[in-house]
Amino acid sequence: MTVMAMHQQVGLLLTLILFLAAAVGSLAVGTPSAIIRTTCAAVGRPGGEVGYDTCVGLRSADPAAAAAKDERQLAVIATNLTVANVTSTVLVLDDLVKNLGDCLRYYRDMNKTLDAALGDLRAGRVEAASGKLLDANGVPDSCDIQLFEGSAKKNPMRKENTDADLLSRLAYAITDLQLPNPPRHRR
Ligand SMILES: *[C@@H]1O[C@H](CO)[C@@H](O)[C@H](O)[C@H]1NC(C)=O
Ligand SMILES: *[C@@H]1O[C@H](CO)[C@@H](O)[C@H](O)[C@H]1NC(C)=O
Ligand SMILES: *[C@@H]1O[C@H](CO)[C@@H](O)[C@H](O)[C@H]1NC(C)=O
Repeated sequence: MTVMAMHQQVGLLLTLILFLAAAVGSLAVGTPSAIIRTTCAAVGRPGGEVGYDTCVGLRSADPAAAAAKDERQLAVIATNLTVANVTSTVLVLDDLVKNLGDCLRYYRDMNKTLDAALGDLRAGRVEAASGKLLDANGVPDSCDIQLFEGSAKKNPMRKENTDADLLSRLAYAITDLQLPNPPRHRR
């Protein structure tokens, strides 16, 4: 629902929210059904893999659980919830793999640029090296931004990006000191 729609229909929305809260509340706080209690007690026995509370939590995760008639229906509901979870995990992985692939390409290019800057430095072409180091500087940020903007909202490369950023800035700064007329404020 958009903000504008909320403004237009505050009264209706509040009524709806109260109704839903009551409905959800009655499902969530009521005593678990007998089948849920016996099933979850069996699953949650000492040494079992999943605790009783997690098992009973099925009721809030899927309201259909409250109406389940037998263990098989509960198994269907738990499996169905797992499907939803796995679907979201696959989307997260898809997004991460794509963005990490982009980062990999950025960094491979950065390495080539750094390699060329090394050649320039060794040959005394300080200005050329400086320009290449400036180019290389942008890569760690680009990788961070790529992951930040990704739908997975995860950045497993934060430390590596920070390290590469710091080191490449340092190399650039030291190189710039050797220029007769340091091109300040280029960044
Ligand atoms: C299975 O999950 C979908 C949404 O993920 C839901 O619409 C459907 O009612 C669920 N079915 C059962 C049997 O829980
Ligand atoms: C996946 O399962 C976890 C733990 O039960 C839950 O917190 C999370 O919201 C679920 N995600 C989806 C997309 O169902
Ligand atoms: C980066 O370049 C150096 C040469 O300067 C090379 O030894 C190294 O293997 C390269 N790394 C990658 C990942 O390409």
